[in-house]
Amino acid sequence: MGRDVIIACDFASKEQVFEFLDKFTGKKPFVKIGMELFYAEGPEIVREIKARGHKIFLDLKLHDIPNTVKKSMAVLSRLDVDMTNLHAAGTVNMMQAALEGLTRPDGTRPMLIAVTQLTSTDQESMENDLLIKQPIDEVVMHYAANAAKAGLDGVVCSPLEAGKVHDRCGKNFVTVTPGVRFADGDIGDQKRVMTPAAAKEIGSDYIVVGRPITAAADPVAAYERCCSEFIG
Ligand code: C5P
Repeated sequence: MGRDVIIACDFASKEQVFEFLDKFTGKKPFVKIGMELFYAEGPEIVREIKARGHKIFLDLKLHDIPNTVKKSMAVLSRLDVDMTNLHAAGTVNMMQAALEGLTRPDGTRPMLIAVTQLTSTDQESMENDLLIKQPIDEVVMHYAANAAKAGLDGVVCSPLEAGKVHDRCGKNFVTVTPGVRFADGDIGDQKRVMTPAAAKEIGSDYIVVGRPITAAADPVAAYERCCSEFIG
């Protein structure tokens, strides 16, 4: 498994995403397709981006009963994505069912990673809305350990947590980290950010970068800068 930069293609339509991807005439970046684009354009958008030679992280964050997740993962696996995800809050059983669904008849499967606690959930909302009283850092680490126990490949986490996740779950357990900003860039609505170089230093395996690339005056140059800082 190699370190890589994943571009968050948070666009609302096929036209916008293709206008963006057409700029990349050299290396085809690994891209993340989220709910907005997937729900707007359907599974065909995944096939079309794949056919252009990109690796795809399909970020749909499944969370349902194990049987439903298993069957849905089988469908996503047939789309030939490279990475997909679910909520660890769905339990170890649900994560194991997801892995079974994702595994193709020939034994191959996309990487499966878990969302622990969304970064939009803080200690107060976790205690008041979810009735979870433990410190949020412990909850995040416990969910990561559950994902490892279920056999998943890794978790989405803040780059600030990547080192701790590796300590708890092993260095081969993958960390996929959003919240990345250039040292001289806007942080936007991200609260806790890290530069690509710092994310490399702390041991992130994949960084997910959206606006610092998609909203840059020269997206290809911004992507290349990210790759050189993170991959070297
Ligand atoms: O534009 P920006 O670099 O902030 O995009 C980050 C991407 O990572 C977005 O697609 C966002 O939804 C996603 N993400 C995040 N924080 C999380 C989980 C996912 O920013 N905790």
